[in-house]
Amino acid sequence: MNILLVGSGGREHALAWKIRQSAKVDKLFIAPGNAGTAQVGINVEIGVTDFPSIKAFVLAEKIQMVVVGPEDPLVKGVYDFFRDDPLLSAIPVIGPSKEGARLEGSKDFAKAFMQRHHIPTARYKSVTACNQQEGYTFLASLRPPYVLKADGLAAGKGVLILHDLEEAKRELDGMLHGMFGEASKTVVIEEFLDGIECSVFVMTDGKDYKILPVAKDYKRIGEGNTGLNTGGMGAVSPVPFANSLFMEKVEERIIRPTIRGLHDEGIDYKGFIFLGLIDVEGEPVVIEYNCRMGDPETEVVMLRIRSDLVELLEGVAAGDLKERELVHDPRVAVTVMLVSGGYPGAYEKDKPVTGFDKVGTDCIVFHAGTKEVDGRILTNGGRVLAVSSCGKDMEEALARSFAGAKAIRFDKKYFRSDIGFDL
Ligand code: AMP
Ligand code: GLY
Repeated sequence: MNILLVGSGGREHALAWKIRQSAKVDKLFIAPGNAGTAQVGINVEIGVTDFPSIKAFVLAEKIQMVVVGPEDPLVKGVYDFFRDDPLLSAIPVIGPSKEGARLEGSKDFAKAFMQRHHIPTARYKSVTACNQQEGYTFLASLRPPYVLKADGLAAGKGVLILHDLEEAKRELDGMLHGMFGEASKTVVIEEFLDGIECSVFVMTDGKDYKILPVAKDYKRIGEGNTGLNTGGMGAVSPVPFANSLFMEKVEERIIRPTIRGLHDEGIDYKGFIFLGLIDVEGEPVVIEYNCRMGDPETEVVMLRIRSDLVELLEGVAAGDLKERELVHDPRVAVTVMLVSGGYPGAYEKDKPVTGFDKVGTDCIVFHAGTKEVDGRILTNGGRVLAVSSCGKDMEEALARSFAGAKAIRFDKKYFRSDIGFDL
């Protein structure tokens, strides 16, 4: 089968690496990909939301499955674009419909969905400029800190956590009046939840589901979870506190009602659901839904799947996921993200990357932001490489990934050397 994978980050390199291992795959293309995906497939220069070019390519190359990595094309309706086009409708897209992607694309939609289906989540109120006063009243009814979320996609920057009521009111006003453009025309005000977070990934064909290995990511730039938020500085899997008792609650209270809710509401959803959960004194509560896999979580989740991923994706497309097998690898996986100095603020690109040959064979280096120019690998983003490995325990996996992280060189390289410190 010929597969087109859409995206260009570490998540897509990890997906491409795993897809490539399947005997079912003839050609694997990645649009637009990066220097890492070029090692396991063929990169094609098409933007992730350029649906007409994706269509032309899919028809020309006889693509039989499209796997969508990032949220943007899903929220913009790539699934519906294929479904509604007679030339494309027989080609499965792994990812939800535009309506399903609203679980990520609109926090207001996601909160209302959870409320309708009695899925545990923080108390909230959605406000616009029309009922701003009600927002102030709701804020005053909460204990600090205060959580304000832009309704729409804001590149991971749309959540503010504020400790002072007056400041929260000012920021709410700012958000409603353009701070994140259209994305914050509606703001979700939430009760603050205190606990430790983890990422649970579910693959669904719209009726049945499989739970992928649980992961935890490290979002802050600084050690000890300090400083600015990033796209993710590292990840580990499994997560010790997501034990079988916790996961039974997750399945019963969150996963089943989510899948049933989507089904009962007639929402097409054949793809991944990413549950951002928080453990509040042993009880799982949903912080957010995403309509795709996480990055850098995918870099550890793929290392912990023994089964043929393509076989499972076929089940998602065919609606017989129930018949397919997902075997987890019991080992511990760790990924350490190497980033460009200055990230998540301003940083430089085009720095030559060396030392790949010094990385042990027990490490896999997934590329996040790289490009190849005249045979040389150059940095091409804030997050550059995800140095990933498995071990019999966390200690062994960490030692392998840190050794790999040190062996790779580029000007102003930075990484967090405390990934997994809190587990
Ligand atoms: P989100 O984009 O909804 O995942 O929010 C980004 C981050 O903000 C989350 O990963 C949490 O660390 C934090 N956060 C979001 N909502 C809450 C909440 N209700 N209570 C505490 N922290 C939150
Ligand atoms: N690692 C968090 C995300 O992918 O959104």
